[in-house]
Amino acid sequence: MNDCVIVTGGAGFIGSNFVLQWVANTESEVVNLDALTYAGNRGNLTSLDGNPRHNFVRGDICDASLVASLFERFQPRAILHFAAESHVDRSITGPDAFVQTNVFGTFTLLQAAKQYWEKLPAGDKERFRFLHVSTDEVYGTLGPDDPAFSETTPYAPNSPYAASKAGSDHLVRAYHHTYGLPTLTTNCSNNYGPFQFPEKLIPLMILNALEGKPLPVYGDGLNIRDWLFVEDHCTAIRTVLERGRLGETYNVGGNSERNNIHVVHTICDLLDELRPDAAIGSRRGLITYVKDRPGHDRRYAINADKISTELGWKPSENFESGIRATVTWYLEHLDWVNEIRSGAYQQWIELNYKERLGAERLSL
Ligand code: NAD
Ligand code: DAU
Repeated sequence: MNDCVIVTGGAGFIGSNFVLQWVANTESEVVNLDALTYAGNRGNLTSLDGNPRHNFVRGDICDASLVASLFERFQPRAILHFAAESHVDRSITGPDAFVQTNVFGTFTLLQAAKQYWEKLPAGDKERFRFLHVSTDEVYGTLGPDDPAFSETTPYAPNSPYAASKAGSDHLVRAYHHTYGLPTLTTNCSNNYGPFQFPEKLIPLMILNALEGKPLPVYGDGLNIRDWLFVEDHCTAIRTVLERGRLGETYNVGGNSERNNIHVVHTICDLLDELRPDAAIGSRRGLITYVKDRPGHDRRYAINADKISTELGWKPSENFESGIRATVTWYLEHLDWVNEIRSGAYQQWIELNYKERLGAERLSL
């Protein structure tokens, strides 16, 4: 077995942050398996071009023979599984890809990992890990006074995305329980930071506000998320990989519950400060309340006591420092933004927002 790891989905938002952090902080090689769907972007990894410790493989996690061949060829000490369809709104308009990638893809990886792991010599067998990156959305929704999600909160997924992630979590659990595969699962709250595709709340609002476009807030804007800066999520995953107990799940969160309208106000105020524009005026004036997301979960909150007391992990950014760093990153990377806002991106914006905003406001 080698010191290398396989990362799936390492050209996406969290995966690419993870790969960059991994290469910067370890001596070990990484094999990055990514299908480059609309959400995957090779451009997130240009700083690793020519680096012999980064092997990029374009391919689908549902392709069993490809996955098996990567285990054979690279003899990894771990697989870190990020690849997924990840956007709740897309899971509402087109759930098929979510079941395929999130459920069947995870199953394919588990099968290949199990076959590889079973043949390893005893010492290597003990060292191998399958780390599954999951979400707090599997726990469903909280009322205003409910305690935060813990690792023992019952699963109650509400969107096709959350249900497909719950299905994958259950498969991972079963492969540990039935076959003894050395698995670890992390369930994390909402991430934000560099390289996030601008279909998600924070980058969408940053870019629309910058350009003076409407800011579409679903429902009453009082839904709550627990925001975590992406680099803190990556350090949590590395911590769980090295020190997590086999078969366990670890909740990861930012201890930063904020409602959506607070998040949007913060972005507006930061842009007014960093890029004042007399023609736009106060960006808060761009806020437009639109038709709600069907089945919209009201509140997520993570109790991260287990990872903190057992493994000593804590986030280093708070929401205020992280959101300022994120807005600044987008302002400094407008080339990256322009490249990914391709035809396919425009089609999504039309599909999701045309009815909500009206064709006229959409093209503002
Ligand atoms: P993302 O959508 O930005 O990236 C997903 C990546 O997976 C892309 O690079 C895409 O090309 C790749 N991919 C998709 N289908 C594939 C397939 N069939 N084969 C190979 N590659 C494929 O997602 P993200 O936000 O970076 O999320 C990464 C993981 O973290 C997901 O498993 C997600 O459920 C989980 N998660 C995300 C958040 C969040 O706030 N974004 C929070 C908690 C957990
Ligand atoms: O909780 C973890 C999850 O966080 C991850 O598992 C998902 O992959 C990730 O996409 C994210 O899901 P959310 O649905 O919470 O994120 P999103 O950015 O889509 O929305 C955040 C909140 O903002 C949510 O309450 C819906 C709202 N929203 C979103 C968009 C895109 C709006 O009000 N307007 C919008 O245009």
